[in-house]
Parts: sequence; C-alpha cells; structure tokens
Amino acid sequence: MYTNFKIYSIPIMSFNIKNVLHSNGFGNKERCKSVYVILYESLKKAILNKTLTSGLKLPPTRVLAKDIGISRSTVLKAYDLLVLEKLINAIPGSGYYISTLKKEKNLHDIYEVEGTGKKYPKISKRGAVLKKGVQIIDPKSNSGIAFRPGLPPLDIFPVNKWKKLSGDYWRTVRFSQLSYSDPRGLSVLRENVASYLKLYRNIYCSPDQIIITTGALHSLSLIGDALIDKNNEVILENPTNPLVYNLFKSLRAKIYQSEIDDEGISIDNVTSKAPKLIYTTPSNQYPVGIRMTLKRRVKLLNWANKKKAFIIEDDYDHEFSNWGNPIPSIYSLDNQQRTIYSGTFNKLLHPSIRLGYMIVPYYLLDTIIGLYQQSNRFVSPATQNILSTFIEKGYLNQHLRSVIEASIERKASFLEHFRRAFDNEIEINSKNTGLHFIGQLNTEINDVDISNHFSNKGVITHPYSKCFIAGEQKNGLVMGYSSVNTTVIRETINRMKIVYTDLLNS
Ligand SMILES: Cc1ncc(COP(=O)(O)O)c(C=O)c1O
Repeated sequence: MYTNFKIYSIPIMSFNIKNVLHSNGFGNKERCKSVYVILYESLKKAILNKTLTSGLKLPPTRVLAKDIGISRSTVLKAYDLLVLEKLINAIPGSGYYISTLKKEKNLHDIYEVEGTGKKYPKISKRGAVLKKGVQIIDPKSNSGIAFRPGLPPLDIFPVNKWKKLSGDYWRTVRFSQLSYSDPRGLSVLRENVASYLKLYRNIYCSPDQIIITTGALHSLSLIGDALIDKNNEVILENPTNPLVYNLFKSLRAKIYQSEIDDEGISIDNVTSKAPKLIYTTPSNQYPVGIRMTLKRRVKLLNWANKKKAFIIEDDYDHEFSNWGNPIPSIYSLDNQQRTIYSGTFNKLLHPSIRLGYMIVPYYLLDTIIGLYQQSNRFVSPATQNILSTFIEKGYLNQHLRSVIEASIERKASFLEHFRRAFDNEIEINSKNTGLHFIGQLNTEINDVDISNHFSNKGVITHPYSKCFIAGEQKNGLVMGYSSVNTTVIRETINRMKIVYTDLLNS
C-alpha cells in the first residue's frame, strides 16, 4: 500500500500528494477509523493549514486511488465529505478544486516567529550592514515605474526579437549546454562584448580579461571580496550610489570620500591616504551627472599609479553619456593595468536581464574567477547566448539608436512639463548627461518624506540626501525620465504636482 509516487501538474505549481497526505496524518494506524475518514481528515487538515491552497486542483479520484492503493469509491466518499463542508468545489467535467476559505491566513502569519540574537546565532557584521540596506521592490508598484532612476525606455525593448532568439536557442540546444558553465561567461559572448567595446567605447581588451556578471553591482561585489579586508582604505565619490557605499561598509573598509566638482572626482582631500581601491563613475557621475574631464582622468590615473591602487571605472551608462561626444575611458588611458572597467546591459536593455561585464587586470583575474566559481558560479548560459546573438545580428546597435532617440524626446518632454508644473519649487539642472535628473527641493520638508509620499501615490523618486556619505546632505529628488512615454510623463508630472501641493498644504 501507498507505494506509488506521483507529481501532479497544477496551474501554479506541482505537488506530491502522497507527501501532503502523510504529513497531515494519512498512513497513521487508526484502527477504529475507516480509510475514507482518515483520507478526508488529512485532506481537511492540509486545506486548513494551507498546505493545499485555494484554487488548487486535487488529483482525479481514479489517479489518487491508484497512487495510494485504495479503492476509487473510498476516495469519492472522502471528496464528497469535503464538498459537503464546502472545503472543495466539484466542477463537472473538470475536477475537484480547493475552495477559498473565508479567512485566508498569509504564510507569514503561520511561519513568522520572533527572531532575535538571543534565540539564534548572531548575524555577521557584514550581514547586519547589508540587512540595513534592504529595499524590497513591491512588484505591484512596478506599474509605477515613472520616475524610478536607472531605467532605460522599457516600452521599446524589442521583445519579439528576443523571443525569436530565445526560441531558436532552445530549439537547437545541446544537452551539454545544460551542464555547468565557465564562470567567466561564454567565450562567444566575451568576444562579442570585446568587439562591442572596441566599436562603442574605443576600448581594446582581450576577451580573456572579460568576465560576464549579473551587473555592475555584482562586479563590484566580486572586486570588493577579492581586494578588501577589514580597515583597508577605499575612496568613494560623494555623493554616490547608496548601494555602493553599503557594499564597502559591509566589507568594513575604511571609506574616504572625494568631493565632486565641475571636473568630476577631486582627490585633493585624500592625497595622504593609501587606498586599495578608488571607485568612480567618470562618464556620468552618479547621481550628480558631471562628466570627468580628460585632465582629471589623467591626474586620477597618475595618483592611483603612485599609490599602487586600483581604479574601478563604473561606466554604467556610457552608451548614453558618450553618445555624440565621446571622451576616452580611464581604462583606455591606463597602460599599467590599474583600471577595472565595469559595464552593464541592465541599463541599456532592461534591469531584469541581469547581465553585465567587467574587464579585469590579469593580476586579479584568477582571484575573481575563483570567487565567482565558489559563489554565484555563472550567469545563465541561455541568456548569455541570446544576448550574444542579439549583438551579432546588429539588434543591439539598432536598439541603442532607438533608445537614444526616445530618450532625447522624453528628456525634452520631462523638462518642459516639470518646469511648467514646479517652476522653482523643484529646480532641475538640465546639464545632467544620463537618464536621470536631480530636482532640488526648495522646501523644509525632507526628500525622504517627500519621496515616501510620492511612492504612496504611485510615483517613484529616490531621495538625493541618501546618496551623501559625508558632509551636507542636499535635499532633492533623483528622477529617471526615460522609462515611460511622453503621455505617461505628462500625466505623472500632473499627478505629482497635485500630490506635492496637497503635502505642502497639509
Ligand atoms: C552608479 C551605478 N552603477 C551601476 C548601476 C547598475 O547596476 P546593475 O548593473 O547591477 O543593475 C547602477 C544602478 O542603478 C548605478 O546607479
């Protein structure tokens, strides 16, 4: 009895009915009870404790009877009792489905227990810092993608082309491609990325030095792990991306900040330091939007050489910021392999693609590969392959042009409507070279509160003050303008104006 094992296919997931029944009491020896009662009781228990959730289809009576070695009429009797109690619905011609219970408990109510360091081992220092920085993205708020910074025009991504390439990949996939893969990334993609960088950024590198990652933050995390021990010195730009700051804080680095002036990062206040790493965003300083001058790039490189430090050049949106007016990357000015160049496709295509790359100096290559192999292992070869063909077929090039065109139109539209709505209440500096603006708030209310208020009304902005790692925390909003079309831009700005006026008057 009860020897068969079957996984049932259901709309949302698959479940192993035998396992469910056993963990809810079926199979316990209860002499005085009939089998149909035991089955009924264990199914009922599983429904009430939400192991079997509403909408789930139960196995057909014949199948369940065969699986657990009882007669079909016994299963029918148990199902009938559940129908009588309205715990399941019988839909003629379709089957038995779990009903919606009046008071649905959510999983957290069942499993969430008090979690303190008294009861469990203490969280590591690194874990505690990273935990503090957690920001859960509510999938429901994704309908409100305007004006989340860091998003390209999502609505023009060529979904059909991607779908076709994806279909082609899976149609011709070899079983060997389903196995473990090279942590550096597929060689075909690394070669295509090397050619892409040559054409678009005038960067010459060997595909051997390219590592495919899930994005700029992943690259940065690998570099941090490879180089930083407690109290090692790191120079960050001020302001900077809060996630970057948090990453180095979690590694317990000694963080020094360098101010941003009109030429980009100024190292004058840190010349006495001995950093291992200098992190910079020269094409489009995040979030200020300054482009580092050539003179400053050379100065930074010379200083890094003197200090035997590495520079991380985060060229996260070089495609946009260098369009029409390119400036040499620090990487291409460097003849000492002192620059780790980081790029990402998450900004150009869409963040959900999770693909980025870095060019790693030979000195660090094996360490980074070792770290990668023993943590994330590798990026999905299917996605890598599809992107590689996307580049080869010239689709990336076509898409880039469409993105630039759309962004120019959206930038003009955003500026026009925003300035009309907010005038000098929220001032915008239009010189910013990337896909976002900073709106300077001329009010006493702080940007965190304003940002939260907007977010509650479905408008996404990031508080500028959170980007400052030292000194004055300027009050402003970081807003991406390019992810949605001009109609949505206009409507969202109008909504923002109403929400903002209400807030000021409240
Ligand atoms: C400065 C900077 N670099 C890089 C990125 C891209 O990160 P990822 O490729 O991990 O999505 C971001 C994202 O917002 C950023 O602000």
